[in-house]
Amino acid sequence: MRTDQKTTAVATRGLTKRFGNRTAVEALDLRVPQGALYGFLGPNGSGKSTTMKMLLGLTRPSAGEIEVLGQRLTPASRGDLLPMIGSMIEAPPGYGHLTGWENMTIVRDMLGLSDSQLDRALATVRLRDHRDTLVRHYSMGMKQRLGIAMALAREPSLLILDEPTNGLDPAGIEEVRSLLVELAQTGVTIMVSSHLLDEIDRMATVLGILSSGRLIFQGTREELFKRSVPDLVIETPQPDRARALITGAVPGQGGVTVSGLDKEQTAEVVRRLVAADIDVYGVRRVQQSLEDVFMDLTGRGGLL
Ligand SMILES: Nc1ncnc2c1ncn2[C@@H]1O[C@H](COP(=O)(O)OP(=O)(O)OP(=O)(O)O)[C@@H](O)[C@H]1O
Ligand SMILES: [Mg+2]
Repeated sequence: MRTDQKTTAVATRGLTKRFGNRTAVEALDLRVPQGALYGFLGPNGSGKSTTMKMLLGLTRPSAGEIEVLGQRLTPASRGDLLPMIGSMIEAPPGYGHLTGWENMTIVRDMLGLSDSQLDRALATVRLRDHRDTLVRHYSMGMKQRLGIAMALAREPSLLILDEPTNGLDPAGIEEVRSLLVELAQTGVTIMVSSHLLDEIDRMATVLGILSSGRLIFQGTREELFKRSVPDLVIETPQPDRARALITGAVPGQGGVTVSGLDKEQTAEVVRRLVAADIDVYGVRRVQQSLEDVFMDLTGRGGLL
């Protein structure tokens, strides 16, 4: 695998992780474009955290290759790459018995950063006024933001954030969301995971969707929308007779509803209803929501 560092921040080929005989992540070909805000979606247990840990060299892949910022990730290259990658995996990392600032100094000392870098990162996540408060007195949103500041202080080229909106109320979610959009505008590539589509879809420039360890979609929101199959709603006072004639029709909306029909199939259904002398009051197409497309793709298995 050879990708251009200028265009691709993360690329994997056949990335696989097995735990015993269970495959948690299977043959992923991820491509996170440079400068993207990549939304990494999937239901609980679909393999998001495991994948992100492999991208950071925290877990060894069972098979496959990873390239980060144009370099193959290996135990030898990891040391060179990590200073360029900020991350927060599974839970915000701050120690409760230390202040926000004291937590930041741990990162400073580990990476040889300056106080002004810490200060800038705290300002970006709007925690400067709370730098001297003990982290155990922080709200969940403040802890998440401190975690992001700890990842940001090194001025990374790539940010990998695992569910940074987990446990936040709508205002907290909105705050993290606008922070990520702001950061992405400065040119940082951001890969952010969530099990909730609506937390991510509007801000992400590219979406990757996992289901049971497999990447079932990768592309833009518009491309995801193209997977949408409109529902056909047929208004009729004789829904039972109509259902007997149309495979897959379900009762609803003043008649029956059937999904996944193209134009020719729609015409055929209407012909059949008319031939059977069923009264048709109206026929209309209803666009599936992005949420429905997502549900169909992930097999309605998760909490999505
Ligand atoms: N260390 C481990 N040992 C065994 N199985 C594991 C381990 N880590 C993860 N798994 C399994 O791998 C699968 C994927 O887990 P992972 O945590 O990556 O999912 P996730 O998408 O991050 O889920 P969530 O939304 O709940 O955070 C799950 O079935 C999980 O039980
Ligand atoms: Mg997880």
